Amino acid sequence: MALPAVVPRHIAIVMDGNGRWASKRFLPRIAGHQQGVEALKRIVRACAKHKIAVLTVFAFSSENWSRPAEEVSGLMELLAMALSKEVSQLKRDGVQLHFVGARETLSDRVKHGFDSAEASTAENNTLVLNVCFNYGGRWDMVQAAKRLVHAGLAINEDSLARSMALAHCPDPDLIIRTGGETRISNFLLWQAAYSELYFCDVLWPDFDEGELDIALQAYAS
Ligand code: FPP
Repeated sequence: MALPAVVPRHIAIVMDGNGRWASKRFLPRIAGHQQGVEALKRIVRACAKHKIAVLTVFAFSSENWSRPAEEVSGLMELLAMALSKEVSQLKRDGVQLHFVGARETLSDRVKHGFDSAEASTAENNTLVLNVCFNYGGRWDMVQAAKRLVHAGLAINEDSLARSMALAHCPDPDLIIRTGGETRISNFLLWQAAYSELYFCDVLWPDFDEGELDIALQAYAS
């Protein structure tokens, strides 16, 4: 498929459907999340190829703590593995990593992994990859307002925008949600004000470069 003329600068994705992908195959849900990591790697490469500047993904929401303990610990384990296995390749590929979300309640191992992945990729400039982890759009607005209050600064649109967790990026031009649901689910509530929304039925582990191209064509038209 030919590349569309208008390519978004910033794409954000709600990667939904991992659990259903696994259930359809009589596999544990964590197998769907593992395939979700593979899909994410494919899409990072495709975004770099399409010269998209920023990719933001919703990896773990503030609400995901209410999932069964086994699934939550499986996701934490998957995250730790991805941090130890994938960061060196991402670094070589020029990806600048940011982890966005509340860190206080995360384990020291995860916090340390985030700090070291961010520090080791800080100079990269091919693609900015924001991984939203323990993130919620409402959390982001509250933390931004609290920071302003703490600093004794006025709260207005400009100051709030500068205090949001994604202040290092332009707002997303395109938000994709896979898995068939047509909701925003507390993702990028502030930043989505003018974003184009694209929903598809494909389950996240099946999302690939071809599916991304279809989304990009829809955005361009
Ligand atoms: C939603 O699918 C997906 C998640 C809650 C996790 C997304 C995480 C990844 C793709 C892996 C990358 C993340 C880490 C930790 C490195 P779902 O479980 O809600 O699927 P369902 O709607 O079919 O049940």
